[in-house]
Amino acid sequence: MQIFLDTANVEEIRQGVAMGLVDGVTTNPSLVARENRKFRECIDEICSIVDGPVSAEVTATDYDGMVAEAREISSWAPNIVVKVPIVPEGLKAVRTLADEGIRTNVTLVFSVSQAVLAAKAGAYFVSPFIGRLDDIGQDGMDVLEEMVLAWDNYGFEAQILAASLRHAHHFKEAALIGADIATVPFKVLQQAFKHALTDSGLERFLSDWEKVKKLV
Ligand code: G3P
Repeated sequence: MQIFLDTANVEEIRQGVAMGLVDGVTTNPSLVARENRKFRECIDEICSIVDGPVSAEVTATDYDGMVAEAREISSWAPNIVVKVPIVPEGLKAVRTLADEGIRTNVTLVFSVSQAVLAAKAGAYFVSPFIGRLDDIGQDGMDVLEEMVLAWDNYGFEAQILAASLRHAHHFKEAALIGADIATVPFKVLQQAFKHALTDSGLERFLSDWEKVKKLV
């Protein structure tokens, strides 16, 4: 499973990359707004830190606008993948962009039907939003599980990018179900390291080592 950071914060991205654990980055307009920076400047800096795919989203809602924006955004760096929402105009744009060799990440996916349409349109990544389904009382992981089954049935080329993962349990479930990629906020990456027995075990090893050192 590849790990992407779901953030537009360059300090978090630098830390994740320094850990050697970050295969790519996903952003969205809300994450960029949180940084209070110009869009292009923010994406340029992220692309200078990360070699892997960096998702940057279009904000036009019509076909012509989305295609024009996607062409522009994808020209900023070779590792940019353009995020496009799953609406009819969006998937039409995804097909055009795929034919031009521009990679897309189809976003705001909440059902297997939407996911299959995105794959058929030529998406490079398809992003089911797990946490937001949990928020409305559904089990977001059901959609991920069903997507993996549909992918097994038909061998779609699009990679399944599990998004809106809010905690380490989501991260674990995405791995067990077989998502190609899990994109996580930096705090979830940190949580994934944690286990109480690791902390207490390390403390014990270090205190025992103090006794050994006295013998040297
Ligand atoms: O990658 C999509 C993600 O940013 C959405 O996460 O927590 O806003 O539902 P969230």
